[in-house]
Amino acid sequence: MNKKSLLNLTNLEISEIMELINLAKKCEDGDFNNIYNNKIVANLFFEPSTRTQYSFETAELKLGIKPINFNQETSSIKKGESFYDTIKTFESFQTSAIIIRSNIDKYYEQLNGINIPIINAGDGVCDHPSQSLLDLYTIYKHFKTFNGIKIAIVGDIKHSRVAHTNIDIMNRLGMETYISGPEIFNDHTSKYIDFDQAITEMDVIMLLRIQHERHQFKEITNINEYHEKFGLDMKRVNKMKRNSIIMHPAPFNRGVEISDDVVECEKSKIFQQIENGVFIRMAILYKALEKEVKQW
Ligand code: CP
Repeated sequence: MNKKSLLNLTNLEISEIMELINLAKKCEDGDFNNIYNNKIVANLFFEPSTRTQYSFETAELKLGIKPINFNQETSSIKKGESFYDTIKTFESFQTSAIIIRSNIDKYYEQLNGINIPIINAGDGVCDHPSQSLLDLYTIYKHFKTFNGIKIAIVGDIKHSRVAHTNIDIMNRLGMETYISGPEIFNDHTSKYIDFDQAITEMDVIMLLRIQHERHQFKEITNINEYHEKFGLDMKRVNKMKRNSIIMHPAPFNRGVEISDDVVECEKSKIFQQIENGVFIRMAILYKALEKEVKQW
């Protein structure tokens, strides 16, 4: 496995996280536009995606990289070609890096024979490092620190790779993390806090959608009851702290975990997260393709 692969955030030092955040700011300022105009990167999404896939593609275009977008439905996967052989094929095209999303936990453990950088765009319920980094960039831009910032991640924690990557790195950065939501989704990866208590005490309320596609059976049947107990509406927003913010990795379900009028309310950073996703993914690619770099 190439040392410049980004598979999760566990092995990154705090200094490397801060370096990526600083690089994202430079990308936002346009410092690295078109620097990689002789490179090709392949985006292989084996699971649906809007934000991650197309913000990686946007990031590639801004850096001058030429993207190849893989389509599973029209690929030789349909003729029985294996996951490994598909990835090895893209490496053989002499691409500079491969972006991969898969519903298989730690799919990259099957890819030891791949020698170019692999960027994990989400694996099963395990990790979503680029989402977590864009969340961190958004929080840092607002609070100018991580130290002591209190966050409650609310909803389907058990099936959320975003929650799992975030809880680990946010604790390492000195944030106070809590989880909230229905007991069936509590996987005890952080301390539990009552939702209405979280509303009045947290600096960040991060909502998650119910990830039905990862449920073995329908775990939530009454959407109205869910919205009443764990949905963020304006009544609850009005009880939040003055400088607090609302986040959501998206896609979101209006009227379930978030009310229609909260999506773009003053406290909501949801679309800024999406915007920041382009800059953080430019930073990730900048590092992965940089020639003289220290290891991740
Ligand atoms: N947040 C996120 O990963 O969204 P997509 O599934 O649309 O990429």
